Amino acid sequence: MPENTQTKPKVRYLSGVQPSGRLHLGNYFGAIQNHIQLQEKGECYYFVANYHSLTTLQDAAELRKYTFMAAADYLALGLDPQKALLFRQSDIPEVTELAWFLSTVTGMGLLERAHSYKDKIAKGVASSVGLFFYPVLMAADILLYQSDKVPVGQDQIQHIEMCRDMAGYFNHTFKKEVFKQPEGVLSEAPKVIGLTGGKMSKSDEASVIPIFGDPSEIKKKVMGIVTDSKGVAEPKDPETNTIYLLYKLMASPGETVEMAEAFRKGGMGYGDAKKRLVLKLEEVFGGEVLERRKKMDEKPALVEDVLETCARKARVTAAKTLEQVYEAVGIPSSKVKKAILESGQDRG
Ligand code: ADP
Ligand code: TRP
Repeated sequence: MPENTQTKPKVRYLSGVQPSGRLHLGNYFGAIQNHIQLQEKGECYYFVANYHSLTTLQDAAELRKYTFMAAADYLALGLDPQKALLFRQSDIPEVTELAWFLSTVTGMGLLERAHSYKDKIAKGVASSVGLFFYPVLMAADILLYQSDKVPVGQDQIQHIEMCRDMAGYFNHTFKKEVFKQPEGVLSEAPKVIGLTGGKMSKSDEASVIPIFGDPSEIKKKVMGIVTDSKGVAEPKDPETNTIYLLYKLMASPGETVEMAEAFRKGGMGYGDAKKRLVLKLEEVFGGEVLERRKKMDEKPALVEDVLETCARKARVTAAKTLEQVYEAVGIPSSKVKKAILESGQDRG
């Protein structure tokens, strides 16, 4: 076949978000916005990482609630299940099986270097084996679906590098190119500042502005952002100012320049800037988007239906990868899994 008539294989994007709390602006501008835009560009696999959340959230009702909310948020924000898959991580339990295979070729030293493990321990999270193993499960998520690119926030880049290492160790050990080495993709806002000064994160409730919070709660949170005591007329540096940095994520270039200049010149007070931020949040996440989100609460079965339909498709891709893994390591593939393979179509 002449080269120019061949169709280029689509890039496969994969990412996950933990349902360990309400999704927030950091999740949206660091990852979710990108996820939704990428559904126009490639083959997308997105999932709610409920197995991962168990390392920090051990309450069944809460886990169920936040898993639903994460999926409903994605759909309200524009994820189109005709274009991208959205599923629950646990609906494809093969991921834990692949994590086991990967763990057998991964040195302790690699995991001991994980920043996120050390940070979580420093914040008081119990140091379970699961927490330590977290990057292996994440590598399995990525490799199970033969992903090319992984759109995430800055904090996840080290995990993706570890995943590349694990893919390489596996291929080298078993002398077979079963896995490709995926790349991380950062958004334009890979590290969104939180209300308490550090990174916005679900693990610090005071740091977050939820995407779909109650308007009065959001207003209270924004008006409560701690600032220095400079008066309205004094010049201020916008680039060290949480209110401006959050506003900038949503404002037009003109609005952004206007606020930055007003801060620099003097004349823009923190109270006024906070009010503008509240209005901007309502403009972006209120209106139609909020209406769509409310519909999900009224009809949770719609969300469940998307999760199940997408999981069936994702599971076929997963089963195919595991077949290659069994072959590479010398484990016979099971008849039950073959039946899954034969029962459905994957996406491509
Ligand atoms: P959290 O850190 O709040 O628990 P997750 O770990 O579930 O959130 O992250 C889901 C996605 O959102 C990941 O791609 C992560 O990198 C991204 N993310 C989380 N917090 C931020 C932030 N403050 N800025 C940019 N991206 C973020
Ligand atoms: N660890 C990611 C986070 O906390 C969530 C996640 C789990 C993920 N598995 C993944 C992200 C695979 C990208 C790819 O944000």
